[in-house]
Amino acid sequence: MSEPADAVPGVIEIRDLHKSFGLHEVLRGIDFHVGAGEVVCVIGPSGSGKSTLLRCVNLLEEPSSGTVRVAGAEITDPEVDIDAVRRRIGMVFQSFNLFPHLTALGNVTIAQRKVLRRDRGAADRTAREVLERVGLGDKFGSYPAQLSGGQQQRVAIARALAMGPEVMLFDEPTSALDPELVGDVLGVMRELAEEGMTMLVVTHEMSFAREVADRVVFMDGGVVVEEGPPERVIADPRHERTRAFLSRVLDPAAARVGEAGPPSP
Ligand SMILES: Nc1ncnc2c1ncn2[C@@H]1O[C@H](COP(=O)(O)OP(=O)(O)OP(=O)(O)O)[C@@H](O)[C@H]1O
Ligand SMILES: [Mg+2]
Repeated sequence: MSEPADAVPGVIEIRDLHKSFGLHEVLRGIDFHVGAGEVVCVIGPSGSGKSTLLRCVNLLEEPSSGTVRVAGAEITDPEVDIDAVRRRIGMVFQSFNLFPHLTALGNVTIAQRKVLRRDRGAADRTAREVLERVGLGDKFGSYPAQLSGGQQQRVAIARALAMGPEVMLFDEPTSALDPELVGDVLGVMRELAEEGMTMLVVTHEMSFAREVADRVVFMDGGVVVEEGPPERVIADPRHERTRAFLSRVLDPAAARVGEAGPPSP
């Protein structure tokens, strides 16, 4: 391949990845890389295989064939210590999956203590630091039921960050949120990106993809249809399938406003 990013090994390197569920081939030969510090947004219609791709990256799903390397480890190698690799990958899902009986602080310390075996003091310090970072410095003692969806999702991001991941995977982290809560979560993700975190993000938030992604990957029917810089893929897609998808997700009026600036009152 000719892209310069291929010259250095990527944090995520996927070659000819196939995944079938029974007779249904969901991923049909995916080649894909995410370089260090890169933010890649994956877009595509429902059922195109976006979540399955992410789940193959941390082996929540076992690929049918192909190779997946993460941070230099080939996770498709049966000999690999998958738990060790998973510790280097932070994952944030649409549903937050917080422990309801633990406070924000408790939710962010528990995996540090159980998986990384940090002592209480160290886990606590890291938890406070990452909760501050996601704007929840005043919510250490709150239980999930006392937090908004957006705050809960930021606890989930803090929980992933506390493990010191080399790469963060996000699967539609804002699609379960009320519209007014989406901005805070995207704001945290944008800050992470600016700080140089390597991120692979499945999202329907086209404005986020346009502004934050280094590269946008459009998937349909289990293949990568096209990829490139967001301004190219989103504003000037080469493939009809990409065009059709974008015209469905982008409100055409809003898209015009985005280009021309806000309408005068
Ligand atoms: N565990 C599973 N068993 C059987 N089929 C599955 C399984 N997981 C996913 N699939 C199928 O694989 C296809 C791709 O699913 P996937 O969740 O990856 O799509 P997606 O692009 O993330 O869609 P969405 O935008 O709706 O989240 C779908 O047809 C789905 O029904
Ligand atoms: Mg999905």
